[in-house]
Amino acid sequence: MQRKITIAIDGHSSTGKSTAAKQLAQELGYLYVDTGAMYRAVSFFALRESLINNGILDTTKLEDRLKDITITFERNPENGNNEVCLNGKNIEKEIRTLKVSNVVSKIAEVSTVRSKLVEQQQKMGAEKGVVMDGRDIGTVVFPNAELKVFMTAAADERAKRRYDELKKRGDKVEYDDVLKNVIERDHIDSNREDSPLVQAEDALLLDTSHMDRDEQFDTLLHWAKEELSK
Ligand code: DC
Repeated sequence: MQRKITIAIDGHSSTGKSTAAKQLAQELGYLYVDTGAMYRAVSFFALRESLINNGILDTTKLEDRLKDITITFERNPENGNNEVCLNGKNIEKEIRTLKVSNVVSKIAEVSTVRSKLVEQQQKMGAEKGVVMDGRDIGTVVFPNAELKVFMTAAADERAKRRYDELKKRGDKVEYDDVLKNVIERDHIDSNREDSPLVQAEDALLLDTSHMDRDEQFDTLLHWAKEELSK
């Protein structure tokens, strides 16, 4: 039987990471883990429990409540996607709103949140045969991953994609607000103290500014096959 590898896909928001990673996992018969969904689930909890007021996060209270947060994934039989659950309740739809996007980078700065989620991610990928996407997968979660990819694209292109996605879902959003969120998150994610978003030295760079979904997927699959044939 072919050996199984760990595939780490990091990069900026709305670069097409999740779509391409999901497709790759499906093709290889691997487990797919969307780690951004886990940070979003904690953000949803913090908003619901009023731990963020006037844009200020009460970090101490959040740390106290971390024990009350259990994140799991469940398979949606309709589309085969792994959807995120908070304490057993599916919140996949709720975590994709701009409201959650606007606070998630703040939540992801908290080291105790990161260590809790990283530990869970390492357990989920312990058997290899996993495609995991996020910001720190190739640098912190699986520094020994056999294949690391860093995805990026121009900010306005990413905002356009995210805007189209939100519109398609029926969300009332303005393009300028989406662009602002993309730029702000890039800044916070890349400049935070704990596990900032950086390209791992041994990661392959994939700029998707001028690539459609098929081209992105084909490139990832090509790299994965190359690694598997070694
Ligand atoms: O991939 P996404 O846009 O759904 O991620 C949401 C946020 O979560 C992102 O702005 C930064 C944070 N994140 C992180 O810090 N580390 C990860 N491994 C994944 C996401």
